[in-house]
Amino acid sequence: MRLVNLNVVFVSLLVLIEVVSVCNGRVLSPAFYRKSCPQIGRIVRSITWSKVAANPALAAKLLRLHYHDCFVRGCDASILIDSTSGNTAEKDAAPNRSIGGYDVIDEIKTKLEEECPDIVSCADIVALAARDAVSYQFGRPMWQVLTGRKDGRVSLTSEASRDLPSGNANFTTLQQQFAGLGLNIIDLVALSGAHTLGVAHCAVFQRRLNATGKGDADPSLDPEYAQFLRTQCTTPPNPAVAVALDANSSVSFDSHYFVGLRHNKGLLRSDAALLTDPRSARVVKSFQGFHVFMANFGLSMKKMGVIGVKKGARDDGEIRKNCRVVNAAN
Ligand code: HEM
Ligand SMILES: *[C@@H]1O[C@H](CO)[C@@H](O)[C@H](O)[C@H]1NC(C)=O
Ligand SMILES: *[C@@H]1O[C@H](CO)[C@@H](O)[C@H](O)[C@H]1NC(C)=O
Ligand SMILES: *[C@@H]1O[C@H](CO)[C@@H](O)[C@H](O)[C@H]1NC(C)=O
Ligand SMILES: *[C@@H]1O[C@H](CO)[C@@H](O)[C@H](O)[C@H]1NC(C)=O
Repeated sequence: MRLVNLNVVFVSLLVLIEVVSVCNGRVLSPAFYRKSCPQIGRIVRSITWSKVAANPALAAKLLRLHYHDCFVRGCDASILIDSTSGNTAEKDAAPNRSIGGYDVIDEIKTKLEEECPDIVSCADIVALAARDAVSYQFGRPMWQVLTGRKDGRVSLTSEASRDLPSGNANFTTLQQQFAGLGLNIIDLVALSGAHTLGVAHCAVFQRRLNATGKGDADPSLDPEYAQFLRTQCTTPPNPAVAVALDANSSVSFDSHYFVGLRHNKGLLRSDAALLTDPRSARVVKSFQGFHVFMANFGLSMKKMGVIGVKKGARDDGEIRKNCRVVNAAN
């Protein structure tokens, strides 16, 4: 539907977001900090851009951080909380492999606490940094980020393992997990396009190279690509080795992921799974065009970015002082 008429869906999505937000006191808005911290946009952008310029692999990390935050307990910066003696946090769950970018968020938060203390939530910083990290390559913001989220006080390793789909998930599981968060098949395909950036560790896809335990590759994997992957990974997999998710352009945000996918060169089983359903396969096909993909990616990021947000009823969230630690109870 969205593919057919972008504008109508865009507008109705905006209206929906406004309505949902109003019910809860605090309204998420692109200009939430206009009066309280007008410099937020400039600060997040300049720190994020300088870090990504120095280390292009960070763009993938900052994008993934926002996804892992939103899928577990909503976009409330629970992913940033460090484990304590009494609690193992989300960031220490099994799916945490290669999660990173925490130090960039810390640096932005420190700067913002100097300029506008106790005003900006860590959850908003994560959402803005993800957008700015992807946008660096284009030199302009590629989608609008609503702000006004509050930070949560709970982070549980068990919830991360439960709520984040596995790289070996099939289409049914992916669709169900996304639907549970209000995300449809177009969102699933668009957001999977984030795998145009970054890497996956050999252990995550090793089963695809040894599908039945006899050393045979997953038949849905292009044989030449499988052969290439075998040259990259050892048995047992070396935890230090990772392979590009989008073989030809893993530091460029583009639509090559979908082109490769259609040639059976999707790295994860969850990537390949998008071809196993006729509806998602059609969306994959249409996203080979960059502009269609980018427009839809922005819409889906905006939708993902409001999952379960805390909007500030008295005990519903806080503005964390240090993104790694919940504020002391008073
Ligand atoms: C559809 C369900 C998804 C599954 C099953 C999935 C799974 C994975 C796995 C297994 C990895 C490799 C981790 C590693 O070995 O280090 C990965 C990497 C990545 N994922 Fe996803 N993911 C999904 C959706 C998303 C979404 C929605 C985003 C962001 C919007 C995202 C962004 C990334 C990025 C950027 C990387 C590369 C990270 C890096 O290079 O450090 N993924 N994903
Ligand atoms: C990921 O979680 C495991 C526990 O499941 C922990 O041992 C490991 O240190 C964590 N990795 C990172 C990078 O935080
Ligand atoms: C998908 O995976 C789930 C969980 O592993 C499994 O229960 C289900 O049977 C699978 N569905 C298909 C169609 O393979
Ligand atoms: C494939 O998996 C089987 C069973 O887990 C294992 O014994 C074998 O060594 C693996 N072969 C390769 C080539 O990875
Ligand atoms: C990378 O590009 C080459 C040449 O255009 C193409 O043959 C190959 O299929 C691409 N690989 C992937 C994984 O997309």
